[in-house]
Amino acid sequence: MTRHLITSAIPYINGIKHLGNLVGSQLPADLFARYQRARGNEVLFLCATDEHGTPAELAAAKAGKPVEDYCREMHEVQARIAEGFRLSFDHFGRSSSPQNHRLTQHFAGRLADAGLISEVSEKQVYSNADGRFLPDRYIEGTCPNCGYDKARGDQCENCTKQLDPTDLIDPRSAISGSTDLEVRETKHLFLRQSQMRDQLDEWINSKTDWPVLTTSIARKWLHDGDGLQDRGITRDLDWGIPVKKGEEDWPGMEGKVFYVWFDAPIEYIACAAEWTEATGRDDAEWERWWRTDKGADDVRYTQFMGKDNVPFHTLSFPATIIGSGEPWKLVDYIKSFNYLNYDGGQFSTSQGRGVFMDQALEILPADYWRWWLLSNCPESSDSEFTWENFQSGVNKDLADVLGNFVSRITKFCRSKFGEAVPAGGDMGAEEQALIDELSRRLEAYDRSMERMEVRKSAQELRAIWAAGNEYLQSVAPWSTFKEDPEKAAMQVRLGLNLIRFYAVLSAPFIPDASGRMLSAMNTLDTEWPSDVTAALTALPAGHAFTVPDVLFAKITDEQREDWQARFAGTRD
Ligand code: 2FM
Ligand code: ZN
Repeated sequence: MTRHLITSAIPYINGIKHLGNLVGSQLPADLFARYQRARGNEVLFLCATDEHGTPAELAAAKAGKPVEDYCREMHEVQARIAEGFRLSFDHFGRSSSPQNHRLTQHFAGRLADAGLISEVSEKQVYSNADGRFLPDRYIEGTCPNCGYDKARGDQCENCTKQLDPTDLIDPRSAISGSTDLEVRETKHLFLRQSQMRDQLDEWINSKTDWPVLTTSIARKWLHDGDGLQDRGITRDLDWGIPVKKGEEDWPGMEGKVFYVWFDAPIEYIACAAEWTEATGRDDAEWERWWRTDKGADDVRYTQFMGKDNVPFHTLSFPATIIGSGEPWKLVDYIKSFNYLNYDGGQFSTSQGRGVFMDQALEILPADYWRWWLLSNCPESSDSEFTWENFQSGVNKDLADVLGNFVSRITKFCRSKFGEAVPAGGDMGAEEQALIDELSRRLEAYDRSMERMEVRKSAQELRAIWAAGNEYLQSVAPWSTFKEDPEKAAMQVRLGLNLIRFYAVLSAPFIPDASGRMLSAMNTLDTEWPSDVTAALTALPAGHAFTVPDVLFAKITDEQREDWQARFAGTRD
Protein backbone atom coordinates (compact mmCIF):
# COMPACT_ATOMS: atom_id res chain seq x y z
CA MET A 1 0.00 0.00 0.00
CA THR A 2 1.27 3.45 -0.90
CA ARG A 3 0.41 6.61 0.99
CA HIS A 4 -0.59 9.37 -1.41
CA LEU A 5 -0.62 13.02 -0.42
CA ILE A 6 -2.47 14.87 -3.18
CA THR A 7 -3.03 18.62 -3.40
CA SER A 8 -4.81 20.74 -5.95
CA ALA A 9 -3.82 24.38 -6.52
CA ILE A 10 -5.91 26.32 -4.07
CA PRO A 11 -8.39 28.58 -5.89
CA TYR A 12 -8.54 32.28 -5.16
CA ILE A 13 -11.44 33.27 -2.99
CA ASN A 14 -12.49 36.05 -5.38
CA GLY A 15 -15.64 34.58 -6.88
CA ILE A 16 -16.78 31.36 -8.40
CA LYS A 17 -14.29 29.54 -10.61
CA HIS A 18 -14.88 28.70 -14.26
CA LEU A 19 -14.59 25.30 -15.93
CA GLY A 20 -11.05 26.12 -17.09
CA ASN A 21 -9.94 26.50 -13.47
CA LEU A 22 -11.71 23.28 -12.55
CA VAL A 23 -10.08 21.16 -15.23
CA GLY A 24 -6.66 22.71 -14.62
CA SER A 25 -6.23 21.33 -11.11
CA GLN A 26 -9.12 20.24 -8.86
CA LEU A 27 -10.80 17.83 -11.25
CA PRO A 28 -7.74 15.82 -12.37
CA ALA A 29 -6.53 15.79 -8.75
CA ASP A 30 -9.88 14.30 -7.76
CA LEU A 31 -9.62 11.70 -10.51
CA PHE A 32 -6.23 10.62 -9.19
CA ALA A 33 -7.36 10.65 -5.54
CA ARG A 34 -10.41 8.53 -6.32
CA TYR A 35 -8.32 6.11 -8.36
CA GLN A 36 -5.71 5.68 -5.65
CA ARG A 37 -8.38 5.13 -2.99
CA ALA A 38 -10.07 2.57 -5.24
CA ARG A 39 -6.75 0.74 -5.52
CA GLY A 40 -6.71 0.40 -1.75
CA ASN A 41 -4.05 3.05 -1.10
CA GLU A 42 -4.14 5.54 1.75
CA VAL A 43 -4.94 8.99 0.41
CA LEU A 44 -4.94 12.47 1.91
CA PHE A 45 -6.45 14.83 -0.67
CA LEU A 46 -6.33 18.49 0.27
CA CYS A 47 -7.53 21.74 -1.20
CA ALA A 48 -8.44 25.14 0.25
CA THR A 49 -9.38 28.66 -0.67
CA ASP A 50 -6.54 31.13 -1.24
CA GLU A 51 -7.84 34.07 0.74
CA HIS A 52 -5.19 36.72 1.07
CA GLY A 53 -3.77 39.42 -1.09
CA THR A 54 -5.15 41.81 -3.61
CA PRO A 55 -7.66 39.44 -5.30
CA ALA A 56 -9.57 39.05 -2.02
CA GLU A 57 -9.41 42.74 -1.09
CA LEU A 58 -10.50 43.89 -4.53
CA ALA A 59 -13.39 41.41 -4.70
CA ALA A 60 -14.60 42.24 -1.17
CA ALA A 61 -14.52 45.95 -1.99
CA LYS A 62 -16.54 45.30 -5.13
CA ALA A 63 -19.07 43.28 -3.12
CA GLY A 64 -19.20 46.07 -0.51
CA LYS A 65 -18.32 43.69 2.34
CA PRO A 66 -15.61 43.52 4.99
CA VAL A 67 -12.96 41.20 3.62
CA GLU A 68 -13.28 38.66 6.50
CA ASP A 69 -17.03 38.31 5.88
CA TYR A 70 -16.54 38.10 2.15
CA CYS A 71 -13.96 35.32 2.53
CA ARG A 72 -16.07 33.32 4.99
CA GLU A 73 -19.10 33.46 2.70
CA MET A 74 -17.17 32.68 -0.47
CA HIS A 75 -15.45 29.76 1.21
CA GLU A 76 -18.88 28.28 1.94
CA VAL A 77 -20.00 28.90 -1.64
CA GLN A 78 -16.87 27.28 -3.11
CA ALA A 79 -17.12 24.33 -0.70
CA ARG A 80 -20.74 23.71 -1.74
CA ILE A 81 -19.92 23.85 -5.44
CA ALA A 82 -16.96 21.52 -4.92
CA GLU A 83 -19.36 19.03 -3.35
CA GLY A 84 -21.67 19.50 -6.32
CA PHE A 85 -18.83 18.41 -8.61
CA ARG A 86 -18.11 15.53 -6.22
CA LEU A 87 -14.58 16.72 -5.50
CA SER A 88 -13.59 14.28 -2.79
CA PHE A 89 -11.31 16.47 -0.66
CA ASP A 90 -10.47 15.05 2.74
CA HIS A 91 -10.41 18.65 3.82
CA PHE A 92 -11.23 21.93 2.08
CA GLY A 93 -9.35 24.46 4.16
CA ARG A 94 -8.74 28.20 4.27
CA SER A 95 -5.39 29.92 3.87
CA SER A 96 -6.55 32.45 6.49
CA SER A 97 -6.68 29.71 9.15
CA PRO A 98 -4.79 30.10 12.46
CA GLN A 99 -2.74 27.05 11.43
CA ASN A 100 -1.52 28.85 8.32
CA HIS A 101 -0.76 32.03 10.26
CA ARG A 102 1.42 30.04 12.61
CA LEU A 103 3.21 28.01 9.94
CA THR A 104 3.81 30.98 7.63
CA GLN A 105 5.36 32.98 10.47
CA HIS A 106 7.34 29.91 11.47
CA PHE A 107 8.81 29.46 7.96
CA ALA A 108 9.69 33.16 7.75
CA GLY A 109 11.52 32.87 11.09
CA ARG A 110 13.47 29.80 9.96
CA LEU A 111 14.41 31.41 6.66
CA ALA A 112 15.57 34.55 8.47
CA ASP A 113 17.69 32.45 10.84
CA ALA A 114 19.23 30.72 7.83
CA GLY A 115 20.18 34.11 6.36
CA LEU A 116 17.81 33.65 3.45
CA ILE A 117 15.76 36.78 4.02
CA SER A 118 16.98 40.26 3.34
CA GLU A 119 15.38 43.55 4.31
CA VAL A 120 15.28 45.85 1.35
CA SER A 121 14.19 49.41 1.06
CA GLU A 122 12.47 49.25 -2.24
CA LYS A 123 10.54 51.36 -4.61
CA GLN A 124 6.83 50.65 -4.79
CA VAL A 125 4.17 52.24 -6.89
CA TYR A 126 2.02 54.71 -4.94
CA SER A 127 -1.26 56.03 -6.31
CA ASN A 128 -2.00 59.64 -5.47
CA ALA A 129 -5.62 59.29 -6.52
CA ASP A 130 -6.18 56.22 -4.32
CA GLY A 131 -3.93 57.39 -1.48
CA ARG A 132 -2.17 54.03 -1.14
CA PHE A 133 0.52 51.73 -2.45
CA LEU A 134 -0.52 49.53 -5.36
CA PRO A 135 0.95 46.07 -4.96
CA ASP A 136 0.30 43.12 -7.28
CA ARG A 137 -3.17 43.13 -8.76
CA TYR A 138 -3.87 46.69 -7.69
CA ILE A 139 -1.88 47.64 -10.71
CA GLU A 140 -2.14 46.65 -14.37
CA GLY A 141 -0.15 47.43 -17.46
CA THR A 142 1.78 45.98 -20.37
CA CYS A 143 4.06 42.96 -19.79
CA PRO A 144 7.71 43.86 -20.48
CA ASN A 145 8.33 40.24 -21.50
CA CYS A 146 5.58 39.50 -24.02
CA GLY A 147 3.68 42.75 -24.54
CA TYR A 148 0.34 41.48 -23.16
CA ASP A 149 -1.56 44.64 -22.22
CA LYS A 150 -3.53 43.31 -19.24
CA ALA A 151 -0.57 41.99 -17.23
CA ARG A 152 -0.92 42.34 -13.47
CA GLY A 153 1.65 43.68 -11.07
CA ASP A 154 2.56 40.21 -9.79
CA GLN A 155 2.47 38.02 -12.86
CA CYS A 156 1.71 38.07 -16.55
CA GLU A 157 -1.11 35.59 -17.16
CA ASN A 158 -0.09 35.31 -20.77
CA CYS A 159 3.59 34.29 -20.53
CA THR A 160 3.68 33.21 -16.80
CA LYS A 161 6.55 35.61 -15.97
CA GLN A 162 6.57 36.70 -12.35
CA LEU A 163 6.61 40.49 -12.26
CA ASP A 164 7.04 43.37 -9.90
CA PRO A 165 4.63 46.29 -10.19
CA THR A 166 7.46 48.60 -11.24
CA ASP A 167 8.23 46.31 -14.22
CA LEU A 168 4.96 47.13 -15.97
CA ILE A 169 4.90 49.42 -18.98
CA ASP A 170 2.14 52.09 -18.98
CA PRO A 171 0.90 51.16 -15.50
CA ARG A 172 -2.54 52.12 -14.18
CA SER A 173 -4.38 51.64 -10.90
CA ALA A 174 -6.76 48.66 -10.92
CA ILE A 175 -8.93 50.48 -8.37
CA SER A 176 -9.46 53.82 -10.07
CA GLY A 177 -7.75 53.40 -13.44
CA SER A 178 -5.63 56.41 -12.48
CA THR A 179 -2.24 56.83 -14.10
CA ASP A 180 -1.25 59.49 -11.55
CA LEU A 181 1.28 57.14 -9.99
CA GLU A 182 4.61 57.71 -8.37
CA VAL A 183 7.32 55.50 -6.98
CA ARG A 184 7.93 55.71 -3.22
CA GLU A 185 10.33 53.97 -0.88
CA THR A 186 9.04 51.30 1.51
CA LYS A 187 10.81 48.52 3.40
CA HIS A 188 10.15 44.89 2.50
CA LEU A 189 11.45 41.39 3.08
CA PHE A 190 12.94 39.46 0.19
CA LEU A 191 13.40 35.71 -0.04
CA ARG A 192 16.92 35.19 -1.35
CA GLN A 193 15.94 32.55 -3.89
CA SER A 194 19.03 33.35 -5.93
CA GLN A 195 21.18 31.85 -3.13
CA MET A 196 19.41 28.57 -3.68
CA ARG A 197 19.69 28.39 -7.42
CA ASP A 198 22.12 25.47 -7.50
CA GLN A 199 20.10 23.43 -5.02
CA LEU A 200 16.88 24.07 -6.93
CA ASP A 201 18.58 23.34 -10.23
CA GLU A 202 19.88 20.03 -8.93
CA TRP A 203 16.47 19.15 -7.52
CA ILE A 204 14.67 19.95 -10.82
CA ASN A 205 17.31 18.00 -12.76
CA SER A 206 16.67 14.96 -10.59
CA LYS A 207 13.00 14.97 -11.69
CA THR A 208 13.51 13.11 -14.93
CA ASP A 209 9.98 11.67 -14.91
CA TRP A 210 8.19 15.05 -14.63
CA PRO A 211 6.02 16.34 -17.47
CA VAL A 212 8.00 18.52 -19.88
CA LEU A 213 5.49 21.31 -19.31
CA THR A 214 6.51 21.44 -15.64
CA THR A 215 10.29 21.21 -16.01
CA SER A 216 10.48 23.52 -19.01
CA ILE A 217 8.73 26.31 -17.12
CA ALA A 218 11.00 25.75 -14.09
CA ARG A 219 14.15 25.76 -16.23
CA LYS A 220 13.02 28.85 -18.07
CA TRP A 221 12.83 30.90 -14.86
CA LEU A 222 15.95 29.29 -13.38
CA HIS A 223 18.18 30.12 -16.32
CA ASP A 224 16.61 32.82 -18.51
CA GLY A 225 17.81 36.37 -18.36
CA ASP A 226 19.30 37.14 -14.97
CA GLY A 227 18.22 33.75 -13.65
CA LEU A 228 16.33 33.19 -10.46
CA GLN A 229 15.40 36.51 -8.87
CA ASP A 230 14.96 37.20 -5.17
CA ARG A 231 11.28 37.68 -4.42
CA GLY A 232 9.54 40.22 -2.23
CA ILE A 233 7.49 38.28 0.32
CA THR A 234 5.78 41.15 2.15
CA ARG A 235 3.23 43.75 1.14
CA ASP A 236 1.73 47.05 2.30
CA LEU A 237 -1.77 45.66 2.71
CA ASP A 238 -4.23 45.34 5.58
CA TRP A 239 -5.50 41.85 4.89
CA GLY A 240 -3.09 38.94 5.25
CA ILE A 241 -0.78 37.23 7.71
CA PRO A 242 1.05 39.81 9.85
CA VAL A 243 4.80 39.76 9.31
CA LYS A 244 6.43 38.04 12.29
CA LYS A 245 9.59 36.07 12.85
CA GLY A 246 8.07 32.92 14.32
CA GLU A 247 6.17 34.23 17.31
CA GLU A 248 8.25 37.39 17.64
CA ASP A 249 7.57 40.81 16.19
CA TRP A 250 9.73 41.88 13.27
CA PRO A 251 11.06 45.36 13.89
CA GLY A 252 10.34 47.70 11.00
CA MET A 253 7.68 45.43 9.55
CA GLU A 254 4.77 46.64 11.64
CA GLY A 255 1.51 46.90 9.74
CA LYS A 256 2.77 44.78 6.84
CA VAL A 257 1.60 41.33 5.79
CA PHE A 258 3.16 38.42 3.94
CA TYR A 259 2.67 38.27 0.20
CA VAL A 260 -0.17 35.92 -0.76
CA TRP A 261 2.14 33.73 -2.83
CA PHE A 262 4.35 33.20 0.21
CA ASP A 263 1.55 31.92 2.44
CA ALA A 264 -0.63 30.14 -0.17
CA PRO A 265 1.54 27.04 -0.73
CA ILE A 266 2.22 26.81 3.01
CA GLU A 267 -1.54 26.29 3.29
CA TYR A 268 -1.00 22.84 1.76
CA ILE A 269 0.72 21.98 5.03
CA ALA A 270 -1.60 24.01 7.25
CA CYS A 271 -4.60 22.37 5.57
CA ALA A 272 -3.42 18.98 6.86
CA ALA A 273 -3.26 20.48 10.34
CA GLU A 274 -6.78 21.91 9.88
CA TRP A 275 -7.90 18.45 8.82
CA THR A 276 -6.62 16.80 11.98
CA GLU A 277 -8.37 19.45 14.06
CA ALA A 278 -11.64 19.27 12.12
CA THR A 279 -11.75 15.48 12.37
CA GLY A 280 -10.60 15.25 15.98
CA ARG A 281 -7.35 13.52 15.10
CA ASP A 282 -4.10 13.90 16.92
CA ASP A 283 -1.53 16.46 15.67
CA ALA A 284 0.84 13.61 14.96
CA GLU A 285 -1.50 12.61 12.12
CA TRP A 286 -0.75 15.61 9.91
CA GLU A 287 2.93 15.44 10.65
CA ARG A 288 2.83 11.84 9.47
CA TRP A 289 2.02 13.28 6.03
CA TRP A 290 4.34 16.26 6.06
CA ARG A 291 7.42 15.62 8.19
CA THR A 292 9.89 13.10 6.87
CA ASP A 293 11.23 12.66 10.43
CA LYS A 294 7.73 11.77 11.60
CA GLY A 295 6.63 9.13 9.13
CA ALA A 296 6.24 11.04 5.84
CA ASP A 297 9.32 9.51 4.25
CA ASP A 298 7.16 6.87 2.58
CA VAL A 299 4.54 9.36 1.36
CA ARG A 300 4.23 9.98 -2.37
CA TYR A 301 3.28 13.64 -2.82
CA THR A 302 1.63 14.81 -6.05
CA GLN A 303 0.54 18.37 -6.85
CA PHE A 304 -1.92 19.37 -9.59
CA MET A 305 -1.95 22.86 -11.07
CA GLY A 306 -2.30 25.09 -14.13
CA LYS A 307 0.87 26.23 -15.90
CA ASP A 308 0.70 29.74 -14.41
CA ASN A 309 1.28 28.21 -10.96
CA VAL A 310 4.32 26.17 -11.94
CA PRO A 311 7.05 28.76 -11.19
CA PHE A 312 5.81 29.08 -7.62
CA HIS A 313 5.75 25.34 -7.00
CA THR A 314 9.00 24.45 -8.72
CA LEU A 315 11.00 27.39 -7.35
CA SER A 316 9.49 29.61 -4.63
CA PHE A 317 7.75 27.02 -2.46
CA PRO A 318 10.62 24.49 -2.63
CA ALA A 319 12.97 27.38 -1.74
CA THR A 320 10.85 28.00 1.36
CA ILE A 321 10.85 24.33 2.31
CA ILE A 322 14.50 23.58 1.57
CA GLY A 323 15.59 26.91 3.06
CA SER A 324 13.88 26.16 6.37
CA GLY A 325 16.46 23.43 6.94
CA GLU A 326 13.72 21.28 8.47
CA PRO A 327 12.64 17.85 7.25
CA TRP A 328 9.45 18.82 5.43
CA LYS A 329 8.19 16.68 2.59
CA LEU A 330 9.03 17.98 -0.88
CA VAL A 331 6.74 17.34 -3.82
CA ASP A 332 7.47 14.12 -5.74
CA TYR A 333 5.51 14.90 -8.88
CA ILE A 334 3.95 18.04 -10.32
CA LYS A 335 1.23 17.45 -12.86
CA SER A 336 0.59 20.70 -14.69
CA PHE A 337 -1.98 21.71 -17.27
CA ASN A 338 -2.29 24.09 -20.16
CA TYR A 339 -5.36 26.28 -20.57
CA LEU A 340 -8.87 25.35 -21.61
CA ASN A 341 -10.26 27.97 -23.97
CA TYR A 342 -13.89 28.86 -24.40
CA ASP A 343 -15.54 29.02 -27.78
CA GLY A 344 -12.83 30.78 -29.73
CA GLY A 345 -11.41 32.87 -26.86
CA GLN A 346 -10.27 32.57 -23.28
CA PHE A 347 -12.25 31.73 -20.19
CA SER A 348 -11.89 34.81 -18.00
CA THR A 349 -12.92 35.41 -14.42
CA SER A 350 -12.27 39.13 -14.60
CA GLN A 351 -14.35 39.45 -17.77
CA GLY A 352 -16.97 36.87 -16.71
CA ARG A 353 -16.47 34.96 -19.97
CA GLY A 354 -17.32 31.25 -20.25
CA VAL A 355 -19.22 28.81 -18.07
CA PHE A 356 -18.74 29.08 -14.31
CA MET A 357 -18.96 26.14 -11.94
CA ASP A 358 -22.32 27.10 -10.39
CA GLN A 359 -23.88 27.70 -13.81
CA ALA A 360 -22.62 24.38 -15.12
CA LEU A 361 -24.34 22.48 -12.30
CA GLU A 362 -27.57 24.39 -12.90
CA ILE A 363 -27.87 22.96 -16.38
CA LEU A 364 -26.47 19.42 -16.06
CA PRO A 365 -25.34 17.00 -13.34
CA ALA A 366 -21.66 16.78 -12.43
CA ASP A 367 -20.86 13.58 -14.34
CA TYR A 368 -21.57 15.13 -17.73
CA TRP A 369 -19.02 17.87 -17.04
CA ARG A 370 -16.53 15.61 -15.32
CA TRP A 371 -16.45 13.24 -18.27
CA TRP A 372 -16.17 15.86 -20.98
CA LEU A 373 -13.67 18.04 -19.16
CA LEU A 374 -11.39 15.17 -18.18
CA SER A 375 -11.54 13.43 -21.55
CA ASN A 376 -10.69 16.75 -23.24
CA CYS A 377 -8.38 18.24 -20.64
CA PRO A 378 -5.60 20.58 -21.81
CA GLU A 379 -2.80 18.14 -21.18
CA SER A 380 -0.21 18.37 -23.93
CA SER A 381 -1.55 21.64 -25.35
CA ASP A 382 -4.36 24.10 -24.77
CA SER A 383 -7.77 22.63 -25.58
CA GLU A 384 -11.10 24.21 -26.35
CA PHE A 385 -14.60 23.96 -25.00
CA THR A 386 -17.26 24.42 -27.65
CA TRP A 387 -20.90 23.53 -27.19
CA GLU A 388 -20.75 21.29 -30.28
CA ASN A 389 -17.82 19.30 -28.89
CA PHE A 390 -19.48 19.05 -25.53
CA GLN A 391 -22.76 17.82 -27.03
CA SER A 392 -21.08 15.27 -29.24
CA GLY A 393 -18.73 13.95 -26.51
CA VAL A 394 -21.53 13.52 -24.01
CA ASN A 395 -23.99 12.02 -26.48
CA LYS A 396 -21.55 9.58 -28.04
CA ASP A 397 -19.60 8.37 -25.04
CA LEU A 398 -22.06 8.60 -22.18
CA ALA A 399 -25.46 8.17 -23.81
CA ASP A 400 -24.79 6.03 -26.91
CA VAL A 401 -22.07 3.81 -25.53
CA LEU A 402 -22.28 3.45 -21.76
CA GLY A 403 -25.90 4.44 -21.09
CA ASN A 404 -27.22 2.46 -24.01
CA PHE A 405 -25.33 -0.66 -22.97
CA VAL A 406 -26.74 -0.57 -19.45
CA SER A 407 -30.26 0.11 -20.58
CA ARG A 408 -30.29 -2.51 -23.32
CA ILE A 409 -29.00 -5.42 -21.31
CA THR A 410 -31.06 -4.76 -18.18
CA LYS A 411 -34.28 -4.27 -20.14
CA PHE A 412 -33.71 -7.31 -22.28
CA CYS A 413 -33.02 -9.47 -19.24
CA ARG A 414 -36.13 -8.21 -17.47
CA SER A 415 -38.32 -9.01 -20.46
CA LYS A 416 -36.95 -12.53 -21.07
CA PHE A 417 -35.55 -13.81 -17.78
CA GLY A 418 -36.89 -11.47 -15.09
CA GLU A 419 -34.98 -9.20 -12.72
CA ALA A 420 -32.28 -11.62 -11.60
CA VAL A 421 -29.02 -12.72 -13.23
CA PRO A 422 -29.88 -15.75 -15.42
CA ALA A 423 -27.78 -18.92 -15.25
CA GLY A 424 -27.04 -20.07 -18.81
CA GLY A 425 -24.21 -22.32 -19.89
CA ASP A 426 -20.43 -21.91 -20.15
CA MET A 427 -18.76 -19.05 -21.90
CA GLY A 428 -17.41 -19.63 -25.42
CA ALA A 429 -14.85 -18.22 -27.82
CA GLU A 430 -16.52 -14.84 -28.28
CA GLU A 431 -16.65 -14.29 -24.54
CA GLN A 432 -13.00 -15.30 -24.21
CA ALA A 433 -12.05 -12.85 -26.96
CA LEU A 434 -13.87 -10.09 -25.07
CA ILE A 435 -12.14 -11.04 -21.82
CA ASP A 436 -8.76 -10.99 -23.56
CA GLU A 437 -9.43 -7.56 -24.98
CA LEU A 438 -10.69 -6.23 -21.65
CA SER A 439 -7.63 -7.63 -19.86
CA ARG A 440 -5.31 -5.80 -22.24
CA ARG A 441 -7.30 -2.62 -21.95
CA LEU A 442 -7.56 -2.80 -18.18
CA GLU A 443 -3.79 -3.01 -17.97
CA ALA A 444 -3.46 0.03 -20.21
CA TYR A 445 -6.10 1.90 -18.22
CA ASP A 446 -4.30 1.18 -14.93
CA ARG A 447 -1.00 2.23 -16.43
CA SER A 448 -2.34 5.57 -17.68
CA MET A 449 -4.19 6.29 -14.45
CA GLU A 450 -1.02 5.61 -12.44
CA ARG A 451 0.88 7.97 -14.71
CA MET A 452 -1.88 10.58 -14.54
CA GLU A 453 -2.26 10.55 -18.31
CA VAL A 454 -5.77 11.86 -18.10
CA ARG A 455 -6.86 11.90 -21.73
CA LYS A 456 -5.30 8.52 -22.40
CA SER A 457 -7.07 7.07 -19.37
CA ALA A 458 -10.37 8.42 -20.67
CA GLN A 459 -9.68 6.88 -24.09
CA GLU A 460 -8.98 3.49 -22.53
CA LEU A 461 -12.12 3.65 -20.43
CA ARG A 462 -14.17 4.61 -23.46
CA ALA A 463 -12.66 1.65 -25.35
CA ILE A 464 -13.56 -0.64 -22.44
CA TRP A 465 -17.19 0.53 -22.64
CA ALA A 466 -17.18 0.20 -26.43
CA ALA A 467 -15.85 -3.37 -26.28
CA GLY A 468 -18.92 -4.40 -24.27
CA ASN A 469 -21.22 -2.68 -26.73
CA GLU A 470 -19.55 -4.35 -29.69
CA TYR A 471 -19.75 -7.72 -28.00
CA LEU A 472 -23.44 -7.28 -27.36
CA GLN A 473 -24.00 -6.12 -30.91
CA SER A 474 -22.16 -9.12 -32.31
CA VAL A 475 -23.58 -11.91 -30.13
CA ALA A 476 -27.06 -10.31 -30.18
CA PRO A 477 -28.75 -12.26 -27.34
CA TRP A 478 -32.13 -11.06 -28.65
CA SER A 479 -31.52 -13.21 -31.76
CA THR A 480 -29.73 -16.06 -29.95
CA PHE A 481 -32.69 -16.30 -27.59
CA LYS A 482 -34.97 -17.70 -30.29
CA GLU A 483 -32.83 -20.79 -30.99
CA ASP A 484 -30.75 -21.15 -27.86
CA PRO A 485 -32.14 -19.47 -24.69
CA GLU A 486 -29.38 -21.11 -22.58
CA LYS A 487 -26.71 -19.38 -24.60
CA ALA A 488 -28.60 -16.08 -24.55
CA ALA A 489 -28.84 -16.38 -20.75
CA MET A 490 -25.07 -16.80 -20.51
CA GLN A 491 -24.54 -13.72 -22.71
CA VAL A 492 -26.93 -11.72 -20.56
CA ARG A 493 -25.23 -12.94 -17.38
CA LEU A 494 -21.95 -11.66 -18.76
CA GLY A 495 -23.59 -8.38 -19.81
CA LEU A 496 -24.98 -7.76 -16.33
CA ASN A 497 -21.58 -8.47 -14.82
CA LEU A 498 -20.07 -6.01 -17.26
CA ILE A 499 -22.30 -3.30 -15.78
CA ARG A 500 -20.77 -3.86 -12.35
CA PHE A 501 -17.28 -4.01 -13.90
CA TYR A 502 -17.92 -0.70 -15.69
CA ALA A 503 -19.30 0.90 -12.54
CA VAL A 504 -16.11 0.08 -10.63
CA LEU A 505 -13.73 1.23 -13.37
CA SER A 506 -15.70 4.39 -14.18
CA ALA A 507 -16.11 5.63 -10.61
CA PRO A 508 -13.09 7.98 -10.65
CA PHE A 509 -14.51 9.74 -13.73
CA ILE A 510 -18.27 9.59 -13.16
CA PRO A 511 -18.90 8.75 -9.50
CA ASP A 512 -22.66 9.40 -9.48
CA ALA A 513 -23.44 7.24 -12.50
CA SER A 514 -21.16 4.58 -11.08
CA GLY A 515 -23.16 4.62 -7.83
CA ARG A 516 -26.42 4.29 -9.75
CA MET A 517 -25.08 1.36 -11.75
CA LEU A 518 -23.95 -0.42 -8.60
CA SER A 519 -27.22 0.19 -6.90
CA ALA A 520 -29.15 -1.12 -9.93
CA MET A 521 -26.91 -4.18 -9.82
CA ASN A 522 -27.73 -4.42 -6.14
CA THR A 523 -24.12 -4.78 -5.04
CA LEU A 524 -21.61 -3.11 -2.77
CA ASP A 525 -18.73 -5.02 -4.31
CA THR A 526 -16.45 -2.31 -5.68
CA GLU A 527 -13.21 -4.24 -5.62
CA TRP A 528 -10.86 -3.02 -8.31
CA PRO A 529 -10.45 -5.87 -10.81
CA SER A 530 -7.14 -7.63 -11.15
CA ASP A 531 -8.47 -10.64 -13.04
CA VAL A 532 -11.14 -9.88 -15.61
CA THR A 533 -12.61 -13.40 -15.68
CA ALA A 534 -13.09 -13.31 -11.90
CA ALA A 535 -14.52 -9.80 -12.04
CA LEU A 536 -17.06 -10.87 -14.67
CA THR A 537 -18.40 -13.69 -12.53
CA ALA A 538 -18.86 -11.59 -9.39
CA LEU A 539 -22.66 -11.47 -9.75
CA PRO A 540 -23.84 -15.11 -9.62
CA ALA A 541 -26.94 -16.60 -11.24
CA GLY A 542 -30.03 -15.69 -9.24
CA HIS A 543 -28.63 -12.33 -8.05
CA ALA A 544 -31.45 -9.77 -8.16
CA PHE A 545 -31.09 -6.42 -9.95
CA THR A 546 -33.30 -3.55 -11.11
CA VAL A 547 -33.48 -1.67 -14.38
CA PRO A 548 -32.07 1.82 -13.69
CA ASP A 549 -33.57 5.04 -15.02
CA VAL A 550 -31.83 6.51 -18.04
CA LEU A 551 -28.20 7.02 -16.98
CA PHE A 552 -27.40 9.88 -19.34
CA ALA A 553 -29.92 11.90 -21.34
CA LYS A 554 -28.75 13.10 -24.72
CA ILE A 555 -28.14 16.80 -25.16
CA THR A 556 -30.59 17.99 -27.82
CA ASP A 557 -29.76 20.52 -30.53
CA GLU A 558 -32.29 22.82 -28.96
CA GLN A 559 -30.59 22.69 -25.57
CA ARG A 560 -27.22 23.24 -27.18
CA GLU A 561 -28.43 26.32 -29.04
CA ASP A 562 -30.12 27.61 -25.96
CA TRP A 563 -26.98 27.29 -23.82
CA GLN A 564 -24.81 28.65 -26.59
CA ALA A 565 -26.91 31.81 -26.64
CA ARG A 566 -27.17 32.03 -22.85
CA PHE A 567 -23.41 31.86 -22.36
CA ALA A 568 -22.43 33.95 -25.36
CA GLY A 569 -22.06 37.19 -23.41
CA THR A 570 -20.35 37.86 -20.15
CA ARG A 571 -21.54 37.10 -16.68
CA ASP A 572 -23.39 39.84 -14.67
O1 2FM B 1 -3.76 30.48 -9.32
C1 2FM B 1 -4.43 30.43 -8.30
O2 2FM B 1 -5.65 30.26 -8.31
C2 2FM B 1 -3.72 30.53 -6.98
N1 2FM B 1 -4.67 30.87 -5.97
C3 2FM B 1 -3.09 29.21 -6.70
C4 2FM B 1 -2.34 29.07 -5.47
S1 2FM B 1 -1.79 27.45 -5.43
C5 2FM B 1 -0.76 27.28 -4.22
F1 2FM B 1 0.31 27.85 -4.22
F2 2FM B 1 -1.21 27.24 -3.09
ZN1 ZN C 1 3.91 38.39 -20.51
